[in-house]
Amino acid sequence: MFPKEVYRARRQRLAADVGIGVILFLGNDHSPMNYPDNLYPFRQDSSFLYFWGQDIPELTAAIDIDASREIVFGDEITLEESVWSGTAPSLRSLCEKAAIDETAPADQLHEFVRKAVKSNRSVHILPQYRAGNTLKISRLLGRAPEAIAKTASPELIRAVVSQRSAKSDAEVEQIETALDITCAMHTMAMQMTSPGKYELEIVSAMESLAYSRGGSRMSYPTIFSINGDILHNQFHGNIMQNGDLAVNDAGAESPMHYASDITRTIPVGGTFSPRQKDIYGIALAAQEQAIESMRPGIEFRDVHKLSCRIITEGLQQLGLMQGDVDESVDQGAHALFQPAGLGHMIGLDVHDMEGLGEDFVGYTNTITRSSLFGTNRLRMARPLEAGFVMTVEPGIYFISQLIDRWKAEKKFLQFIDYDKVEAFKGFGGVRVEDNVLVTEEGVRVLGPPIPKSIEDVEALASL
Ligand code: GLY
Repeated sequence: MFPKEVYRARRQRLAADVGIGVILFLGNDHSPMNYPDNLYPFRQDSSFLYFWGQDIPELTAAIDIDASREIVFGDEITLEESVWSGTAPSLRSLCEKAAIDETAPADQLHEFVRKAVKSNRSVHILPQYRAGNTLKISRLLGRAPEAIAKTASPELIRAVVSQRSAKSDAEVEQIETALDITCAMHTMAMQMTSPGKYELEIVSAMESLAYSRGGSRMSYPTIFSINGDILHNQFHGNIMQNGDLAVNDAGAESPMHYASDITRTIPVGGTFSPRQKDIYGIALAAQEQAIESMRPGIEFRDVHKLSCRIITEGLQQLGLMQGDVDESVDQGAHALFQPAGLGHMIGLDVHDMEGLGEDFVGYTNTITRSSLFGTNRLRMARPLEAGFVMTVEPGIYFISQLIDRWKAEKKFLQFIDYDKVEAFKGFGGVRVEDNVLVTEEGVRVLGPPIPKSIEDVEALASL
């Protein structure tokens, strides 16, 4: 945990920003896999962790802004539970570590909320992403579960996003702790990847390495595939062959649950073919120039656009695209090859705060989401500020079904040479991704350097 003053200050600022009423935070409960006692690993809600610091299930917390009270509702473990799971510190002592003065048994929560509702006070809640918590709120507020999605408080969401967006030095340190592990995972993966191995051998070795470092888990399900044209491919059953390209998108969580999210592309057999070098080189140039352009005040949608221009120029040099670069990007022709956004915020969540609503995180009243295919997947568009941590992850993908559809529709014939593109079907995809802190002066790529130049990747991959 961070020092207790950190949590107190966060809650005080939140209460001041929201202004009036009661704020309710639902912590996560255990989640069973197939029967009640067989559980997925517990993961606390990230906003709950951020404001209350408590990493245990079955808690609800409240700030009564008007009465200046902060309460955590929950029960001590019973003797019988302790037989199966061991003893645990009291809730009171855990809460003291986060400067929380009041705790109360879980069964007092209903009366607490009922009183607030009866007095017509605002009860602010965040959007819910787990069915159990939706039902809990439905019971507490006396509203149908279907109505709960509309009950989330925009004032609270904005106040939470405003605080969680800019990372403190201590939070950045956590992300870098995760990146230390992730660097070791990726370096090992480059060395291990070789013809004849199953993808899952590399995946299990990376996850085992993470787990062996203090019990750290993955921030998200690992994407490791020789079919990198499927952007989030989580099938790991292929045997790798000489000449394949393996996209490795994998990141560990720090022990305090801060995420990392890194992608590298590995030539199976140790060397990139000339064609692979061309395509990988374009993606790498797009990533490096995008990072170089980032600083406070720059809109991330412009950084995204810059990366799309570099990809377009590179593909034009290879003869796959043609025409005016700006027009081509403005109209969305590059999305045949790069149908994803350039990146997203990262913090306690790998897609930080996305559970609160992507548009609250990445857009404003004046910077609104594009409806253009590809650009509509950009999760972050608004101006960068010091303290933001972003992923920067351009890719180039040859997606057969998308190529077939666009070709049949004769889409963007002025910008795309489909005959040349046809020859790249089966190529797969490339992506290169780092985690980047926006500083007052510019940016800092976080964590230890993870090889990404063609020479450095080949040096490791051919060992
Ligand atoms: N790296 C996985 C994701 O961004 O969803």
